[in-house]
Amino acid sequence: MIIMNKTGIFYSFRSVKTAQQVKKISRLFDDQLESVDIDVATGEDFMRFTNYILAVPTWFDGELPTYWDEFLPAIDEEDLSGRQFALFGGGDQKGYPENFVDGLGLMAEFIEERGGSIVGLTSIEGYDFESSKAQRGNQFLGLALDIENQAALSNERIEQWVQSLKKEFK
Ligand SMILES: Cc1cc2nc3c(=O)[nH]c(=O)nc-3n(C[C@H](O)[C@H](O)[C@H](O)COP(=O)(O)O)c2cc1C
Repeated sequence: MIIMNKTGIFYSFRSVKTAQQVKKISRLFDDQLESVDIDVATGEDFMRFTNYILAVPTWFDGELPTYWDEFLPAIDEEDLSGRQFALFGGGDQKGYPENFVDGLGLMAEFIEERGGSIVGLTSIEGYDFESSKAQRGNQFLGLALDIENQAALSNERIEQWVQSLKKEFK
């Protein structure tokens, strides 16, 4: 029998929109993900996993949410090599076309600087924006969900993303 490494899904339990997306993702993983509340998590809580799904919506014109900014110093000195990170998060391509889902890019930079690898890249096709720190080539460094303008596309995007994560996660 193959025993899969438990995957941790980190998000703010207070973030209503994000929590709804997490629910869908978790269900597609047959509720096998371990939910961790980033509002109260310690560095030790974070370092228990090898596979991660991080919920990173973009706030404040291209910034990370406050709860991530407050948490990241706890793992600033950690070596994340050998770990895989899948990022997703909300953004608003009409309201913030120059900073669309920048948070995904900021988080990817933090992870990669510490040796972690990013999985679950997605095509930029189907989105209309001007610039994004999350863009690398013709892909985003994670799954961009825009419930302000493209809510109807979210379910299918989530399903496709989870399918690819199931193949990519070791
Ligand atoms: C004050 C404010 C600033 C925002 N800034 C950005 C931004 O720079 N880029 C972006 O793509 N979306 C931005 N958004 C849109 C949010 O990322 C989007 O609404 C997301 O779904 C919020 O998820 P949450 O409520 O779970 O945090 C912003 C929203 C608000 C209210």
